Amino acid sequence: MSLSFEGRVVLVTGAGGGLGRDYALAFAERGASVVVNDLGADIKGGGKSSAAADKVVEEIRAKGGKAVANYDSVEDGEKLIKTALDAFGRIDVVVNNAGILRDRSFARTSDLDWDLIQRVHLRGSFLVTRAAWNHMKNQKFGRIIMTSSAAGIYGNFGQANYSAAKLGMLGLANTLAIEGRKYNVHCNTIAPVAASRLTETVMPPDILAFLKSEYVAPMVLWLCHEQCQENGGLFEVGAGWIGKLRWERSQGCIVRQKNQPMTPEAVRDQWDKICDFTDATKPASVQESLQSIISVLSGVESEGEVGANPTAAAASHSAINPTEAVGQKLPPSTFSFTHTQCILYALGVGMSTQDPDHLRFLYEGHPDFCSLPTFGVIPAQAAMMDGGLSSIPGLNIDFTQVLHGEQYLELYKPLPTSGKLTTEATVADVLDKGSGAVVLLDVNTYSGDELISYNQFSVFVVGAGGFGGRRTSEKAKASLPPPKRAPDAVVIDSTTRDQAALYRLSGDWNPLHIDPSFAAMGGFKAPILHGLCSFGFAARHVLKQFADNDPSRFKAIKVRFVKPVMPGQSLQTEMWKEGNRIHIQCKVKETDAIVLAGAYVDLHGTSEASPENLPQGGGLQSELVFAEIGRRIKDLGSELVKKVNAVFGWEITKDGKNVAQWTIDLKNGSGSLHKGPYSGKVDVTITVSDEDFMEVVLGKLNPQKAFFSGKLKVRGNIMLSQKLEVILKDYAKL
Ligand code: NAI
Repeated sequence: MSLSFEGRVVLVTGAGGGLGRDYALAFAERGASVVVNDLGADIKGGGKSSAAADKVVEEIRAKGGKAVANYDSVEDGEKLIKTALDAFGRIDVVVNNAGILRDRSFARTSDLDWDLIQRVHLRGSFLVTRAAWNHMKNQKFGRIIMTSSAAGIYGNFGQANYSAAKLGMLGLANTLAIEGRKYNVHCNTIAPVAASRLTETVMPPDILAFLKSEYVAPMVLWLCHEQCQENGGLFEVGAGWIGKLRWERSQGCIVRQKNQPMTPEAVRDQWDKICDFTDATKPASVQESLQSIISVLSGVESEGEVGANPTAAAASHSAINPTEAVGQKLPPSTFSFTHTQCILYALGVGMSTQDPDHLRFLYEGHPDFCSLPTFGVIPAQAAMMDGGLSSIPGLNIDFTQVLHGEQYLELYKPLPTSGKLTTEATVADVLDKGSGAVVLLDVNTYSGDELISYNQFSVFVVGAGGFGGRRTSEKAKASLPPPKRAPDAVVIDSTTRDQAALYRLSGDWNPLHIDPSFAAMGGFKAPILHGLCSFGFAARHVLKQFADNDPSRFKAIKVRFVKPVMPGQSLQTEMWKEGNRIHIQCKVKETDAIVLAGAYVDLHGTSEASPENLPQGGGLQSELVFAEIGRRIKDLGSELVKKVNAVFGWEITKDGKNVAQWTIDLKNGSGSLHKGPYSGKVDVTITVSDEDFMEVVLGKLNPQKAFFSGKLKVRGNIMLSQKLEVILKDYAKL
């Protein structure tokens, strides 16, 4: 099908001669209504005549085409567009073509030589395009051509003014292409070569014969057609040949080191590398261009940090020697924390007081307060953040190219809620995946001498492969595909707009997760969520769905990070139960994109978990008191039920462990006392140690003080605890 411009209104500036005239004729021939603009100036911008434009309009009309003339300078941009609107009611295409030359060697370039050239080419194109812009945006269609020049792209003796203006137009086009894209307003740039009055003095006649101006127009027509989706392109076009241009950039090289000044000597010493175009990249946007800067920031500044920049793509200059690196240890690190970090982490992975089950992870006063199992990655990651990876011999990797690929966490006992942990990390293996290297880091975390958790970080180093190493390792904790059936359970949970802002407070300070400009440099529309945050969401979904939120049931988790999640998106965790292994897959609900793959959580079987098998304490002082309470209830039960009307549960602890459970029922019948788990509804549960219980009973410890100091914990209807006095006061005399 031939390309028609029927119904389109096209403005060609400087169309009274040369290339512009050809464009105008070609557009008209294919049905466009054409505004033929030309000031009728001489080659240097002097003079004025309507004849040039009129002649072209006549030519078009003689062939049955539609055209009107406009004699204004492109510096009166609005007037040109008004002509189009007045004559044809719309504007679809603007070809910025008008131009003049005032060639001078640079030293002789006058202010006027400079200004006139900028005014006609750059400012004129700006004014005409701006006048058309909103019409195009509103109608959701527009095609704009900027006419640049080889002189601008490459430079040309005697054309400093012209070169500057012509490359200025390319800069203008680059941004218009971005701003117009979503309105279907496209802007492309051509650097034509054609015989015209501008070139006849500088090129020999036999060459000019090949460079007919009619060899440029077809390219302009194609770029301006609605079928053409090209946007932001730069093309050289002439003599029937068309080529596209783009930027190329060397791999470059980082010339500074952490905490050391950057020096001109370092630049000199790396000069060959900086200018070496081997494996050059072709950044096509500011984002792509600035990725290397991001890499420098996250690489040099955190030296050894396991970053999460999934877009870093350039090859790196790495030198890996597995035999040297494997088995090397990072310096040990310590992690001191209190309940605050545990709670902050729980909030970071989306726990909320809206869910009463979550309170045990959010409130240090909760009788079952505990750490979320996946908090176990935090001390390990802190060890990595301390750096040290960069000093491992045989592991000379470019830390700007590091991605967090996979994570495995295994707990050997429930995590404490405060204390001091030490972490040791070892390079378990280094694998050669061709396109990159995988570094497996085994990280053990201890509380005192006791090993409490093991993490395996799988770190992918882009471009560091090809060192002749093995592809797989028996040390790698493998990810596993989910069963091929519909999931047994699906939990959908929304992250909040501030999820990453909250999660980072647990210790991952990479600005990629908070700073919009930093994220933009990484090629993201907005800061992305931490992979380990989605990991935390998925793990707690499993814990709730299959382990009743009991952290002691948690054994291990494995996850492969596939795609980033944006804060505010919803996470959909799909789960398949296969014995004690729960396979998981996590998607962004809004896009259906898989973000965590090959993942699973291993649970301990219920019989292995201990809460039900609490030692029921003998020899406790509190036993005596409860025995006495039991007797009183027998005597005065009905009276107490009237006064109190509540069921009290008691959890008596010794050395931090629950050792006895009692229920004082002063609500049903004439009251009763039970030892062990209670089957009915308990209004309030009080947890207190055997010793403190006695202190309270003996009146040595004020119950309120005990509560606020955390010695006595109350769950349920806290107001009812005030009625405790009725039950306990007499026993002070015991
Ligand atoms: P040309 O001189 O034949 O055409 C330029 C037209 O622009 C003239 O008709 C002139 O009257 C008009 N014009 C000048 N100032 C104006 C103003 N203020 N307002 C409205 N019209 C004005 O030159 P040619 O070769 O056709 O050039 C067309 C465009 O292509 C120019 O922008 C030129 O810089 C560019 N170009 C041409 C090359 C070639 O090989 N011919 C090489 C590189 C770029």
